[in-house]
Amino acid sequence: MKIGLIVYSRTGNTLSVATRLRDVLREAGRVAEIERIEVMGDPTQTPGEVEFSALPDPSPYDMIVFGSPVQGFSLCPVMVRYLDQMAPIAGKRVALLVTEAFPYPWLGGNRAVRQMTRMCEEKGAAVCGSGIVNWMKKRREEQISRVVDRLSELACTIS
Ligand SMILES: Cc1cc2nc3c(=O)[nH]c(=O)nc-3n(C[C@H](O)[C@H](O)[C@H](O)COP(=O)(O)O)c2cc1C
Repeated sequence: MKIGLIVYSRTGNTLSVATRLRDVLREAGRVAEIERIEVMGDPTQTPGEVEFSALPDPSPYDMIVFGSPVQGFSLCPVMVRYLDQMAPIAGKRVALLVTEAFPYPWLGGNRAVRQMTRMCEEKGAAVCGSGIVNWMKKRREEQISRVVDRLSELACTIS
């Protein structure tokens, strides 16, 4: 089974958590790759204006972890645009990773997860779990470990 971690990360927070998850998956003997979504120009623009310079293809993966930051109390426009333009991924298992600055998930993280869940389900995927990391939380490290453990367990329960 091949696991793709498809990540948009502007300042490196989401990427750092995704990298830890990839390393844990590899230590467990899984084939796991990070692919970064990259954009030209201002990444804070509205989804319709986003122009991609790197557009990962989800089709080679059996399971996909989509990783994204929160922006404006919602899923960031780059990930909205990415999921919107993505071809159907019917039958694939999906997990979601979200990072946000604020210390509580109701300040954007929960909403971003709901948005990603809906968009992935509309493309035919089965969303099996999610994790939110609140970057300004005092116990951020513990939270990252819990999220990485949970998402890696989800990936390791399928053959
Ligand atoms: C334009 C902008 C808007 C943001 N809006 C929010 C927000 O509404 N809620 C929140 O918790 N964090 C917000 N953040 C913070 C990011 O979600 C947070 O720093 C995240 O971990 C960044 O991930 P990255 O380093 O992978 O890009 C915002 C950041 C930017 C740049």
